[in-house]
Amino acid sequence: MTLTTPLSAFVRDVPDFPKAGILFRDITPLLSHAEAFGEAVEAMAQPVLTLQPTHVLGLESRGFIFGSALAQKLGVGFVPARKPGKLPMPTHKEAYGLEYGSDALEIHTDAFGPGDRVLIVDDVMATGGTAAAAQRLVQKTGAQAVALTVFIELTSLPGREKVEGLPVFSVLRY
Ligand code: PRP
Ligand code: MG
Repeated sequence: MTLTTPLSAFVRDVPDFPKAGILFRDITPLLSHAEAFGEAVEAMAQPVLTLQPTHVLGLESRGFIFGSALAQKLGVGFVPARKPGKLPMPTHKEAYGLEYGSDALEIHTDAFGPGDRVLIVDDVMATGGTAAAAQRLVQKTGAQAVALTVFIELTSLPGREKVEGLPVFSVLRY
């Protein structure tokens, strides 16, 4: 079925979440609508087809949702970048600052190696701190990060500057 409603209509604005002054972009209406979610994944896949990634790196937690769907669409494997302490084998770790708070991401040290081409996937890029940490994680393995693709890009923040040298693709921009 072809979707006649714009994808932006499936993103709900929630003021003051998770704290005062933050306008939260809630993607749960999009995810729960089969055609809208499918179209979003299709729109994320199109610009990266020619980059020939070997893996998708999905960033916990909402990056897992888009990342795993995208990996299946592209016919490549999925690797999770997880919050600290969740992965069972030896890891690389990178800390980052967030729009609200700070955190870190980890990947297994054997997740990628030289010759691998990694597409980093998340739901949203705001400050770019999360994506830049993922870019550093990929570098640590000797693999190449080929692009970052996000469903939503908040263009009022300098996220693209944080991931210098990495092509950035987004479907919706606010
Ligand atoms: C949100 C969002 C991105 C990140 C973007 O994740 O899902 O991962 O923030 O912000 P940045 O560009 O400023 O780094 P969050 O850390 O809230 O966690 P979640 O995905 O587990 O909900
Ligand atoms: Mg996130």
